[in-house]
Amino acid sequence: MANQQKRRVGILTSGGDCPGLNAVIRGVVKCAHKLGYDCVGFLKGYEGLVDPVCYVPLNTKNTSGILTQGGTILGSTNRGRFAAKTGVDDRATIDPDLLSAVRTTVDQLDLAGLICVGGDGSLAIAQQFHEYGIPVVGVPKTIDNDLSATVYTFGFDSAVACATDALDRLHTTAASHERVMVLEVMGRHAGWIALHAGIAGGGDVILIPEIRWTFENVCHKVLERERNGKRFTLIVVAEGALLPDGGLVARERRRESQQVRLGGIGNVVATELETRLKRETRCVVLGHLQRGGPPTTFDRVLATQFGAHAMRLVHQERFGEMISFQPPNIDSVPIVDAVSVLRSVDPNGPLVQAARALGISLGDAPEDETLFATDSAGTPVGLTEKLVGSGI
Ligand code: F6P
Repeated sequence: MANQQKRRVGILTSGGDCPGLNAVIRGVVKCAHKLGYDCVGFLKGYEGLVDPVCYVPLNTKNTSGILTQGGTILGSTNRGRFAAKTGVDDRATIDPDLLSAVRTTVDQLDLAGLICVGGDGSLAIAQQFHEYGIPVVGVPKTIDNDLSATVYTFGFDSAVACATDALDRLHTTAASHERVMVLEVMGRHAGWIALHAGIAGGGDVILIPEIRWTFENVCHKVLERERNGKRFTLIVVAEGALLPDGGLVARERRRESQQVRLGGIGNVVATELETRLKRETRCVVLGHLQRGGPPTTFDRVLATQFGAHAMRLVHQERFGEMISFQPPNIDSVPIVDAVSVLRSVDPNGPLVQAARALGISLGDAPEDETLFATDSAGTPVGLTEKLVGSGI
């Protein structure tokens, strides 16, 4: 067993929130209680660690009932003084004065360890803490499911459930109005949410960052469905899917982190399809609905296990490690292994193969080239046109 002297542990939640964060906090607190540790929760992510230091005591009483609550009782931010450029690009280095201030806080509170719950950006910060000698344990969190070294992150299943529910609803209205419906989902530079929700919600076309696609191929799928008597089409597009010319559709580039804020491709796709197909087309951008609300059963179980295991790692002084879900086991890996490479969808993997086997188009290759004739404006020819706005 580990540290006999220090009997207090700190926890913080950092980056974009997601369902299950409170379940992790509760898991840590309950496990800490059993192992004889006090807990403190730092507010607003890493910001709470430094001037002004902001934390609250956490115990089984004041964390009771939070298992099912979305968001995080500790607050979070993906901006601020610690924001790091992460992922495939170079990461920013944290100001040494900030690192020193964090160490002072950890020392003054006599913390045995600090549990950092976050996605790749937040875990890259935790890694720098570790390299600086601050005793950290990482817990992977993101709806995007793009962290390597863990098969699933909590939050992902809840986001997929939300996107699937949206597709179920869009399905009936699309069929009633014989429309093309485009649903834009989150996921940053990975297509996991789009792919899972697209399959679960009966999408006809799924566009993801990992597979290059063309408007012609998407049009082809819509027309093929019409020939088969299906006069509506559901298209799921990941916010990070590249346009056929290779461009990303972004809302802004954050100055402090240089991270691109994605979004808007759904409308681009819908507008272009309407022009080419002359079919009524609508776009829904699901946005932060995917991040809110109660966690699914799966995420509650996963997040609770992550919390309990993180506390065990602190107790065993296994610092610099991150919880990893390797079904059926909850394990751990060096944080550095999880943040250096993002996990993207394998274009030839089983999920993509299953989608193709079902006839779902990934926008990359028409199944029947003979249907694929277009006029000089790129509009598919040979089918009755439906006027945009003609209604029912
Ligand atoms: O990483 C989680 C995520 O929800 C991404 O899917 C999305 O691109 C981003 O965060 C949105 O960030 P913000 O909450 O800052 O708009």
